Amino acid sequence: MKEFSKSTKLDNVLYDIRGPVLDEAMRLEREGHRIIKLNTGNPAPFQLFAPDPVLEDVISNLDRSQGYCDSKGIYSARRAVQLYSESIGIKGIDVEDIFLGNGVSELIMIAMQGLLNSGDEILVPAPDYPLWTAAVSLSGGTAVHYVCDEASEWYPDIDDIKKKVNSRTKGIVIINPSNPTGAVYSKQVLEDILQIARENQLIVFSDEIYDRILFDDSVHYPTASLADDLLVMTLNGLSKSHRIAGFRIGWMTISGNKAVAEDYIRGINLLTSMRMCSNVPAQYAVQAALGETTSIKDLTRPGGRLYEQRNYAYDHVIDLPGFSCVKPKGTFYLFPKIDIKKYNITDDEKFAYDLLRSKHILLVQGTGFNWKSPDHMRIVFLPPVEDLKTVFTSLAEFLDTYKQT
Ligand SMILES: Cc1ncc(COP(=O)(O)O)c(C=O)c1O
Repeated sequence: MKEFSKSTKLDNVLYDIRGPVLDEAMRLEREGHRIIKLNTGNPAPFQLFAPDPVLEDVISNLDRSQGYCDSKGIYSARRAVQLYSESIGIKGIDVEDIFLGNGVSELIMIAMQGLLNSGDEILVPAPDYPLWTAAVSLSGGTAVHYVCDEASEWYPDIDDIKKKVNSRTKGIVIINPSNPTGAVYSKQVLEDILQIARENQLIVFSDEIYDRILFDDSVHYPTASLADDLLVMTLNGLSKSHRIAGFRIGWMTISGNKAVAEDYIRGINLLTSMRMCSNVPAQYAVQAALGETTSIKDLTRPGGRLYEQRNYAYDHVIDLPGFSCVKPKGTFYLFPKIDIKKYNITDDEKFAYDLLRSKHILLVQGTGFNWKSPDHMRIVFLPPVEDLKTVFTSLAEFLDTYKQT
């Protein structure tokens, strides 16, 4: 019989957030075990729900959401994104420069597919949100990873970026606040990256989906607000700030020097037209959500659930023997470093399997985020403190006797 293999285009594509360790978790669930799934940044399963006005807008517009809409998205939602962009200091965005998508995920794919030819390079952070690396590879390009430096609050290493730019480099990806590290970049570090983009004529792709999930006094600087002379594609959405990951709604704005990219923008238009439009009911969430800023502030301020969970998780992760961690300033994630000699770890995926089978806790290994050494794990701190207590008690018990074999 003829056998069918997956496309070779998938050879370098990795998405361990929902990879083989999750398959094993699901197998264990089918056997009747309760698994604490800390693999995805998906707020709703942890009872972090959308504010009512957002749901009300979607429900009351369901009737008029039955047809396809403009492939860029409904006008009222794009207008809301335009006003939001202006309010955070991004200048010169027209409603026509805004594309709504089925989550940021779809727009990442479109942005890369519309741009890359074989041999083109895109600079991507390591560690990264792995969809970026995957999208570059699937689009025929090469992701070149620049290092983020754990010793400097996980900020991008500017010298490393400089070393990795060459004539094939078309763009640079910035993920700020960062998944998986929780870093929120300083204005200086962003300006340093923008200067490299300026000198080397790079497109800047700025993934800012966590821009409203900030702790302490952290300030988020939208990349595009710092450079109106460069072509900046900003990606954002409602999966995290408004906890509607299942609705699939995000947007991409194009700002700055659009004149250099007329043909590329035609390509983006073509790709968005080919998928008709993004999910229309979810587009009706955008206007209400962008006008609703209090609920996420309440969750992230002292006393708020996300703030308290971040503190609990951080305080307990650094107490685990052989663990250290940079305190996250935003997002839902901790990215602790593990003393791999202490536990004899040579394979972090095996560590994830061993933990899952022994304690029924699902984490994602650092190499799943294009981090080279097997010395990090990502922990999602979305569960309430009561559940985090179970997680950290179980982790401590597991580590007490763990030696990788
Ligand atoms: C950095 C980053 N970008 C994009 C996404 C995708 O989000 P969406 O639900 O909008 O597709 C995620 C989801 O976890 C993310 O962490």
